[in-house]
Amino acid sequence: MRRSLTALAIALGLVAAAMPPAQAQTPGWHARATQFANRPALAFGVAWYPEQWPEARWQTDLQLMQRAGFNTVRLAEFAWSAMEPEEGRFDFSWLDRAIAAAAQSGMMVVLGTPSAAPPAWLTQKYPDTLRVDEDGKRAAHGGRRHFSFASARYRQFAARIAAEMAKRYGKHPSVVGWQIDNEIGPPSWDPESVAAWRGFLEKRYGNIAELNRRWATQYWSQHYNNFDQIPLRATGQHNPGLLLDFKHFTTAIWTDYVRAQATVIRAHADPRQFVTTNTMFWNAGFDHFALHRVVDMASWDNYIPNGRPDWVANGANHDLVRGYKQRNFWLMETQPGRVDWVPVNRALDPEQVREMAWQAVGHGADAVLYWQWRPARNGQETYHGALLGSDGTPVPVFDEVARTGKELAQAAPLLADTQPVADVAMLFSYDSRWAIDIQRHHKDFDPVQQFLSLYRPLRIRAQGVHVVAPDADLGGYRLVVAPSLHVLTEAQTDRLAAYVRGGGHLVLGPRSGMKDDANALWPERQPGPLADLLGAEVEQYYALDAPVEVQGSYGTGRASIWAETIRPVAKDVEVLARYTDPGGWLDGKAAAVTRRVGEGRITYIGGWLDDSLLATVATRLLDGADIRPVLPDVHPDIEVSLRSGASKRAVILINHGAEPHSIALPAGASPVTGDLTGGTLPAHGVAVIELR
Ligand code: GLA
Ligand code: GLA
Repeated sequence: MRRSLTALAIALGLVAAAMPPAQAQTPGWHARATQFANRPALAFGVAWYPEQWPEARWQTDLQLMQRAGFNTVRLAEFAWSAMEPEEGRFDFSWLDRAIAAAAQSGMMVVLGTPSAAPPAWLTQKYPDTLRVDEDGKRAAHGGRRHFSFASARYRQFAARIAAEMAKRYGKHPSVVGWQIDNEIGPPSWDPESVAAWRGFLEKRYGNIAELNRRWATQYWSQHYNNFDQIPLRATGQHNPGLLLDFKHFTTAIWTDYVRAQATVIRAHADPRQFVTTNTMFWNAGFDHFALHRVVDMASWDNYIPNGRPDWVANGANHDLVRGYKQRNFWLMETQPGRVDWVPVNRALDPEQVREMAWQAVGHGADAVLYWQWRPARNGQETYHGALLGSDGTPVPVFDEVARTGKELAQAAPLLADTQPVADVAMLFSYDSRWAIDIQRHHKDFDPVQQFLSLYRPLRIRAQGVHVVAPDADLGGYRLVVAPSLHVLTEAQTDRLAAYVRGGGHLVLGPRSGMKDDANALWPERQPGPLADLLGAEVEQYYALDAPVEVQGSYGTGRASIWAETIRPVAKDVEVLARYTDPGGWLDGKAAAVTRRVGEGRITYIGGWLDDSLLATVATRLLDGADIRPVLPDVHPDIEVSLRSGASKRAVILINHGAEPHSIALPAGASPVTGDLTGGTLPAHGVAVIELR
C-alpha cells in the first residue's frame, strides 16, 4: 500500500532527521533502509541549482518547494566546474549538503551527470575535446554542448565524473535516478569524428564494394576506392545513402556516448536507481528508439515555445516518448509559463500549466518536473519562466503549480502502477522521416506533419494511441497505422506481413515502401516488399501544387501536396477512393485500396488527404477494428486518457478549450480530484476519475 505524499514526507523527514551530519554520511547510506519502497507514484518537482546560490538560502528554497507540493529535485546537471574545479580534484561537499537538505525536506533526488557543460580547465588543456561544426569551426567555452561526441578523451572525463558521483550517491536512499547529460546533442566534425565515421561505415558494410553497391556510387562517379575517401557530411548535395547513414552514425555515437556513462553509473548504483537521459521533442538528431535501449526509462523536456498549446500535437509528443521503451516515462522538464528561446516568448494562459502537467500524466508520465526553480542572477537564461522571481519569492503561476501538486498527490494512489492503454498503434520510423527530409520532392511534405495528420483524428476518436517503432511487437494492437513508412527493411516487412496474416489491420500512408535502409530505391514499385501482400502497387507519384479531388467510400474531399496512383494487381483488391482530375494524370486512378488477407487486412492510402476526409478514414478504420472510445460523445476539446493497472482504471479528463462542456460518466465512475461539478468540466478544467 502506498502512503499519501504527506505521510511519506513526514516519514522521510524523520528518517533524515535521524541521520548523522552530511559529511559523515557516506558509509551509512549503504546500510540504511532506502526510501525506494515508499517512493511516491508520481514525482513532482523542479530543477534546482543550489550551486548558484548561497547555502544560507537553501532552506528557504526547500520550504517554498514543499509549499509548491514538490517531492523531487533534479540537481547537478550543469555543475561540473563546482564538482571538479580542477582536473582530478573533486569537491562534493556542497552537493552532499544539498542532497542532505533536500532529503530532509522529503525530496527525492535525481542527479544529472554534468557532461553537457565541460569546464574551462578541460577544454583549455584538451582542445581536441571541443566540438567542430560542419564548416570546420571549433567551438569555444562559455555555452554548453561544445564537446565532440566522438572524443575518447572527453568520454573518459565524462565517465570519470559520472563514476565519482555514482560511487558517492549510488546507494543514497534519496537518490532515485540518474539523468545522463542534458538534451544530447549536436554532432561534431572533428578529426576523431571523421575517423569514427569511416570505422562505422566499414563495420556496417564490411567492405568498400558493398558500400559502393548499396549507395549506387556509379552515379556521378562517386565510386570510392577505400573508406578514407568518404567525407563526413550531413548537409549539401550528397548521396542520399551517405546522408541517411550519417544519421545512423550519429545514432551509434550518441548511443555509445550515453552507454559509456550508464555503464559506470550502474557499476556503483543501486539497481533501483533509474538511468535516463532527457530528450527533446521530435529531435531528428538520432534514432530515439535505438538509443533508449541503453537506458532504463525515457524522459523528455516538454516545451510549448509559442505558449499556444495544440493539445493533440503535444499528446503525440508524449506518445512518441512513451513508445521509446513502450513504458511510462518522466517529464524531466516543462515550462512554468514561458520559455526564452523563440522570437516571442508568450506565457501559457492561466490554468494551462496545470493542464499540461495532467496531459503528461494522462499519456504515461510518472513525473512532472519544472524548469526551473529560480532564474540565475546572470547567464543565458535569466528571462526564462521560473517558479520564483529575481527576489526569491513566488511568481503568479506558483499557486497554480501548488494546486497541481495537491491534486497529483490525491490521484497518486489511483495512478500508481497504471499505464496508458491503446488498441491502435502508429509506426514512427526515424529512417523514413530522415529519408523523406533528405529528398522531400515537395517542400511541404513534412513527415512529422504527415504523421500528425493521421494521429489527430485517430487520437480524438480512439482516445488513446500508442506510437511505436516499425520493429516493435504489434501483437496487442487491432489496428496499426504507418503514415509514411518510406524506408522499409526486409525484417520489418516480415513482421508487418505476419501481423496482417495474424489478423491485424495494417494501414500504409503515402510514400510507403519506397526505399531500403541505405536509402536506395527498392526494385519493386511501392510499397516495395509489401506490394505482393497488398496485391497492388503505386504506378506513379506526383507532387501537387494544387489540391485534387478524391471520391469514394470515405466521401468526397481533396488530396494536397502528394498523390500516388495505385494499380490493383490481384483480383481481390478493393478500391476505396479515386481521384477526379479532368485532363490530369490522376483522373480516375485509385487513391486508396484495401485487401483482406486471411483474417487480417492491409490498406494503402496514396494521397495526403484533407482533415475532414481523414476524420472519416479514422472513424472507418476504428469501427472496422471494433475500437471504441473510452467515453463516447465528448466534445473534441476534451482530452480523454485512460491509464489502467492490474485491478484499476483511471481516466484523466482535460478541457483544453475556452468553454465549459458537459461530460456523461459511466455508471460507478467516481471523481478522485479535479474540477468536475454537476457533470460539467469548466474551461481548462481537469478531472481524474476512477472507473469501476
Ligand atoms: C541538369 C544536368 C543533368 C540532370 C538534370 C536534372 O540538366 O545536366 O545531369 O541533373 O539537370 O534535371
Ligand atoms: C532545455 C534544457 C534546459 C533549459 C531549458 C529552457 O530543455 O534542458 O537546461 O535550457 O531548455 O527551456
